[in-house]
Amino acid sequence: MSNLKLNLSKTARFEVFSIPDDKNVEMPTTPKRIETGSAPASRPTKTPSTASDRAKDIAPVTLNYVGADEEEVASTKPGDSATVDAKKEQVVDPWSVESEGAIDYEKLIQQFGTQRLDKNIIERFEKLTGKKAHRFLRRGIFFSHRDLSMILDLYEKGKKFYLYTGRGPSSEALHLGHTIPFHFTKWLQDVFDCPLVIQLTDDEKFLFKQELQLEECNRLAYENAKDIIACGFDLKKTFIFTNLDYIHHMYPTILKIQKLTTYNQARAIFGFTGSDNIGKSAFPAVQACPSFSQAFKIPLRGEKNMPCLIPCAIDQDAYFRMTRDVAPRLQCNKPALVHSKFFPPLQGRGGKMSGSAANSAVFLTDTPKQIKDKINKHAFSGGQDTLEKQRALGANLDVDVSYEWLTFFMEDDDRLAEIGRDYASGAMLTGDVKKELIGVLQTMVADHQVRRKEVTDDVVKAYMAVRPLEF
Ligand code: TYM
Repeated sequence: MSNLKLNLSKTARFEVFSIPDDKNVEMPTTPKRIETGSAPASRPTKTPSTASDRAKDIAPVTLNYVGADEEEVASTKPGDSATVDAKKEQVVDPWSVESEGAIDYEKLIQQFGTQRLDKNIIERFEKLTGKKAHRFLRRGIFFSHRDLSMILDLYEKGKKFYLYTGRGPSSEALHLGHTIPFHFTKWLQDVFDCPLVIQLTDDEKFLFKQELQLEECNRLAYENAKDIIACGFDLKKTFIFTNLDYIHHMYPTILKIQKLTTYNQARAIFGFTGSDNIGKSAFPAVQACPSFSQAFKIPLRGEKNMPCLIPCAIDQDAYFRMTRDVAPRLQCNKPALVHSKFFPPLQGRGGKMSGSAANSAVFLTDTPKQIKDKINKHAFSGGQDTLEKQRALGANLDVDVSYEWLTFFMEDDDRLAEIGRDYASGAMLTGDVKKELIGVLQTMVADHQVRRKEVTDDVVKAYMAVRPLEF
């Protein structure tokens, strides 16, 4: 503990580097240091480390990832108030999502330099595909993108593109948060009728989770593949792979990406420190690689430069800022992205659901009773603390977790609006809203479990076979 204090008191933070998205600008070779008196906000990682790791791994780097269009990011400069005031800093990266209050997604759009997924693009989407927008689009859950309009242009012209998403297999079961990008990707695959590749990063979890063995990560990848398949992806158009098993097909592309990315860039984007293992620094090229169709000679039938769209939550964007920076130098298309907000933990909004806190998450393996108990006991309520006050004042929907979870999973817009109205006015009580949510989730999870039971080892093998996809 005294070590910890000592290190923090010496904290210096690095200035923010930007990767201008549309220009190939040399990165600074050495980060400039800004001496600060205060310690940075703590950053609980998605990957809990050992005590000795933690002592070594006090990463005094506060990074605002700045991506694309410079105009959009002009307000976020090194040393501006967001960077200086450590207490108010929200942290969103592939390993931690942390914020004192609700996550400020507008600010992420500014910091990362992405584009807002606005009404116009959703209307165009509906017009071109002839399909009603998915509830995640209608309700602003997928809120940001990079070059989604370019994908719509391709669709309009009848040109081909593919989808790419993934999962880091670190636990036996997926939680509801993990299902958001997969449900959305399944819908996109149906609407666009296009091929899809799904990367399972067993290598990433081995390198980033001190306590996990390699064989275990590979086993978990196969387990997680069953949950992913149960989301309903079309076998003829979907290729699922673990990095350990498919790496030799990707290796030439990975090497090219690695050669074009300096250690300083990787450190600036991902915050690696001297005590991190060297595998971590090499890994981002592995997650970048499937953005390029040349890595899928067989599944994508030799298409050398087929455009790619990546659905994911905004935490993964750092990998793809790096990818988009490298793409033109590989003479490849930059991948397009569509980003979701985080499905929040039961305790409230300032983060994302994490599998390491069992009572903050609902898992796809939970029983109806577990779902009911977790929601009744742990879902943060925006309702008043007495019946009389609730009837008189109504609930604060902005902080109520049960209501927010309903916005993710209740399909019926009219019923959702009715619940919102009645709960906010005091006509409904927290218990009523929790009951609605429990019903929705019990049905959804039970249906998933039925579908998952049908996913045998042979079915997994079929999705993972290296074969030409139909498109
Ligand atoms: P992983 O396993 O952490 O997460 C899998 C996917 O789920 C998203 N996600 C969430 N979405 C909404 N709410 C949450 N609470 C929540 N938690 C996680 C993640 O953004 C991700 O899309 N390195 C990746 C695996 C990966 C990948 C990819 C992901 C490899 N290639 C391409 C997306 C796209 C990982 O560990 O994801």
